[in-house]
Amino acid sequence: MAIERTLILCKPDAVARGLVGEIVARFERRGYVIVAMKLVVCDKARAERHYTEHKGKPFYDGLVSYITCAPSVALVVEGAGAVEGCRGTIGATDPIKAAAGSIRGDHAQTIGRNLVHGSDSPDSAKREIPIWFEPHEMLGRRHDLEQWIIST
Ligand code: RTP
Ligand code: MG
Repeated sequence: MAIERTLILCKPDAVARGLVGEIVARFERRGYVIVAMKLVVCDKARAERHYTEHKGKPFYDGLVSYITCAPSVALVVEGAGAVEGCRGTIGATDPIKAAAGSIRGDHAQTIGRNLVHGSDSPDSAKREIPIWFEPHEMLGRRHDLEQWIIST
């Protein structure tokens, strides 16, 4: 299984509801590692780049308003098959269909306030990560760093 990086967003409703710790803990407990993380107010230009595939859809304007209304916490998470694995931890787009035990299944009610974003493919992750992070904001070799912290 390839080691992958994926973009995770704790969207403004997650920050406003005080659920960032709960959400980040889900990924950490699965063994994924955080290689970048920051609190950021997404501006309109970044929102339009991030959600370009949804431009023209009926929910697009509401989606851009939602993601730009208040701070999000953006993370890059790394691990074996992390793109698909994190999508599983997040749960189905519509929380009413999301499995119990997933983030959306346990903590969200509606598709318009579904708490978390996760890249939907390795190609999407490669496109999305540079929208949110500069290269210098990301750790390069987390595993080596941790071995040094533990063993010194
Ligand atoms: P995300 O991108 O946030 O991880 O969510 P996703 O892949 O599960 O869903 P996607 O189809 O990419 O939709 C992006 C976000 O748009 C909002 N949405 N609203 N009202 C609607 O029918 C509708 N459909 C999508 C959701 O906030 C969704 O997460
Ligand atoms: Mg998506």
